[in-house]
Amino acid sequence: MAIQISENGRLFTLHTKNSSYQMFADPFGTLLHLYYGKRTDGENLSDLIFRTDMGFSGNPPEAGSDRTYSLDYLPQELPSSGVGDYRDDCVRIRHADGSCAARFLFDSFQVSKGSYSLPGMPALYDTDAETGETLTITLREACSDVRVQLLYGVFEQADIITRALKVWNGGQTPVDLEKVLSMSMDIPFGDFDMIYFAGRHAMERTAERLPVRRAGVRIGSVRGTSSHQYNPAMILCSPNADEDAGDCYGFCFVYSGNFTASAQQDQRNQTRIQMGIHPDFFSFRLAPGEVFCAPQVILSYSSRGLTALSRSYHRILREHMCRGPWKHARRPVLINNWEATYFDFNREKLLAIASQAAELGIEMLVLDDGWFGKRDDDNSGLGDWFVNTEKLGGTLTDLSEQIHRMGMKFGLWFEPEMVSEDSDLYRAHPDWALTIPGREPNRGRNQLVLNMARPDVRDYLLERLTDILSNAKIDYVKWDMNRSICDIFSSCPGTERTGELYHRYVLGVYELLEGFLARFPHILLEGCSGGGGRFDAAMLYYSPQIWCSDNTDAINRLSIQYGTSFFYPVSAVGAHVSACPNHQTGRSVPFRTRGDVAMAGSFGYELDLNQITDEEKEQVREQINSFRYLYSLIHEGDYYRLTEPGKGDFMAWEFVDENRDHAMLTIVQTESFGNPVPIHTVVKGLDPAKKYRCLMNGAVRSGASWMGAGLTPDRILKQYESLVIEFVRES
Ligand code: GLA
Repeated sequence: MAIQISENGRLFTLHTKNSSYQMFADPFGTLLHLYYGKRTDGENLSDLIFRTDMGFSGNPPEAGSDRTYSLDYLPQELPSSGVGDYRDDCVRIRHADGSCAARFLFDSFQVSKGSYSLPGMPALYDTDAETGETLTITLREACSDVRVQLLYGVFEQADIITRALKVWNGGQTPVDLEKVLSMSMDIPFGDFDMIYFAGRHAMERTAERLPVRRAGVRIGSVRGTSSHQYNPAMILCSPNADEDAGDCYGFCFVYSGNFTASAQQDQRNQTRIQMGIHPDFFSFRLAPGEVFCAPQVILSYSSRGLTALSRSYHRILREHMCRGPWKHARRPVLINNWEATYFDFNREKLLAIASQAAELGIEMLVLDDGWFGKRDDDNSGLGDWFVNTEKLGGTLTDLSEQIHRMGMKFGLWFEPEMVSEDSDLYRAHPDWALTIPGREPNRGRNQLVLNMARPDVRDYLLERLTDILSNAKIDYVKWDMNRSICDIFSSCPGTERTGELYHRYVLGVYELLEGFLARFPHILLEGCSGGGGRFDAAMLYYSPQIWCSDNTDAINRLSIQYGTSFFYPVSAVGAHVSACPNHQTGRSVPFRTRGDVAMAGSFGYELDLNQITDEEKEQVREQINSFRYLYSLIHEGDYYRLTEPGKGDFMAWEFVDENRDHAMLTIVQTESFGNPVPIHTVVKGLDPAKKYRCLMNGAVRSGASWMGAGLTPDRILKQYESLVIEFVRES
């Protein structure tokens, strides 16, 4: 039983295969958080909370003269606001009289079969392999008619619990929501580190780890997107946790806009963990009868370290978030013309790239930025989604058919959410762009952002996308988004409340994506935002792969892909072999290494194939064959991080298939020295009792022996050289 209810409907225990999560509605109606950790039998753990009279921690009226009952230290599921819990609150309400307080009291609960969905927002869904269960706990605000429903989803086998919440105004007057996070949770005991993924454009998701103390650790975005700077996911783990051991909690936000995520110890050294829409620039007016839904957070607990935690996220996102025909189907090996030509292309150049690509076995040509409107650089044309037949030397229909006749699929780049001031769209509808009257707008890449909250903007974009896609043979779309958002203002009725706009923007993007996929369900969508600026779980609901970074340098990619791997499955990671020296870093890396690194993702090329040597062309053929042969191992297998960036002289990672019959280990030498000494790596994930042949040297040893004693490569690698080693089960 995944959801266990006891003590007259006041004790709630959620069980997954390896974890339990417990809450208790205490006699005063506070929903206490009692436990999240290793699986238990569901006994009441209230005795873990030792009540004391803490000075300067006041007592709510229900407690009467009992000075030991204080909201200021009790571990809670939905912390109150303005009534005596001085830690961070979760839902903040401004009532019609201007007061700002909320005390949430347990009201009722409901258990239902199946996962919950959230209107207009992505959430994990049920599959034939696993159906979730849902617990809904309703709390009522003590002095108003506001109700909050806490939603808990349990995927028992997957070791996943989800949280989301809904706020309902049941009163006669509007209320203003000033803060609505999706979750808050207090872990009563233990010290934790927080691992988060920070970065910048072209250098996303660098893993950082900090101890959580009284000062707290907080990440977030107010850029309108989930951002390059902080990914909307974090891990809390015991200070000694590593890949193979230790307590780890994951929190992954299913949302693509502004977010906050934090962990902070309180006066009792309890850790409050929160995640949700960033309260800055946020307010939401709820008219009588209206409901506000906060996005989903995916939680997982592992007592066996970070690798096991990542595995739970890889599986759940791959199986219960990614949708559509491309969820499991092998994705075509693509060639993208961006780094080959940038804006400087014509039909001849594209066909030259395509025919060379087809000859080498590449399966799809993606035509990137510059095929529409007036767009020979990034200063104009966005919004004018009309084919530039002059530049293309004919129609897109002709071009796409010609590519298909070469035996390849054809993909196209769009950046629907943006507008250039130098465009017919902007000249016709300047009010569609986000700008504040009387204030010169901030420009990013010299472009403005369309107000995606407006239905007329979305209608225009869907009509344009539909026109282009129904008049040419298009198999794939790269959906880009190339700036951060500010100048938040709307004069459009229904979207004019500025505090709502960032969120309504995100809902507008989801609505457009949903409408687009409903019309073109066969399209393979690749998400993108200047590379990985919107690499989040919510986007995976629409696009099963996301361009991981504009940085294609294989060595930088080692740490970017490492950071990405903590939550996101390899199948989601767009990764390409690009030119040498690399355009972003100037570094030269062997062609083979570039292939081996890109192969830990949705594989493709992004360079002019007519500029590479015959030997490299031969390597392209080999790489494509390997990728086809290894596809299911890479995309559906278990992923192991064997090293950490910056520690040691090489990076290594490994894939092991579900049956533990086949493994593949990749090593990239990142440093080198004169008179080199051999390196040695651990091997993971094999069946200890089975024998495996190592295809590097033919040695046959037991899984236990490979995993215990590890492996020494049979050659010295020069700097940036790579080695791929397969293990095949013999018995
Ligand atoms: C963004 C993308 C790139 C490319 C350019 C085109 O930066 O991340 O891959 O598509 O836009 O302008």
